[in-house]
Amino acid sequence: MSERIKVNRQAIRAKWKDLYNVKTARKQNKTKPKNFIEPKPNAKIITLEKTFPNIKQKTLTECIKSRRSLRSYAKTPMTIEELSYLLWETSRVEYIEDNRVYKTIPTAGATNSGETYIYINNVEDIENGIYLYLQNEHKLALINQASDIEREVNQAILRQLRKAHVVFFFTSVASRVEYKYDFVGPKLIALEAGHACQNLSLAAEVLDAGACAIAAYDQEKIDELLKIDGEDHFTVYCATVGKK
Ligand SMILES: Cc1cc2nc3c(=O)[nH]c(=O)nc-3n(C[C@H](O)[C@H](O)[C@H](O)COP(=O)(O)O)c2cc1C
Repeated sequence: MSERIKVNRQAIRAKWKDLYNVKTARKQNKTKPKNFIEPKPNAKIITLEKTFPNIKQKTLTECIKSRRSLRSYAKTPMTIEELSYLLWETSRVEYIEDNRVYKTIPTAGATNSGETYIYINNVEDIENGIYLYLQNEHKLALINQASDIEREVNQAILRQLRKAHVVFFFTSVASRVEYKYDFVGPKLIALEAGHACQNLSLAAEVLDAGACAIAAYDQEKIDELLKIDGEDHFTVYCATVGKK
């Protein structure tokens, strides 16, 4: 087995009990990283819907049964209500208590390392571009609307866009989870992104849509498109979503 594989495996078989002896940033009473990424003050903000009168609910059993990776999408645009629903079920903050963040998905020790960015490619009444999901406000903030953004995103996800209505980018601010869990952070980050993507996959089924998880992407290129630093804050997982 190569040294590289050995080292990488170590990240997901982190020895929890070793944490007891680590002087984590939290134990040192260092300042806790901010819970959320804030948009630029002049960023264009889009308010999303919080009720979903046109979405016909299905049972969880139905959603799990029908879920398959979907890689071919209808041409009809997604509605704002549908997009709102996907974000609502996947990445929304439900409440904050004692500076801990509780979301629709579980996050390790409520440290919430995750942020969600989306590329809108075919949604009614929203211009195409990359947006940051303001998880605590259920709004979108425009991040990048370069003229050739569709081509750039397609290249960054290694030509897997396939005319999807929207692409989700699950990113992580590593210091948020490392503050409490130090070297176990990478494992927790990956698990958290998996939770988010699974909620997304099932929420998509409710809409008669589908998702395709994407781990094969160009790391530097996506981080650059999302305008994140790629060091403390980086992309972990992506998913294309579209109507069947
Ligand atoms: C961690 C992970 C990464 C994946 N990355 C990709 C990817 O980059 N491109 C892709 O087309 N599918 C990707 N998939 C989807 C799998 O190929 C798919 O889940 C698998 O073939 C089983 O099919 P099903 O999802 O329909 O059950 C990924 C799935 C997982 C769980």
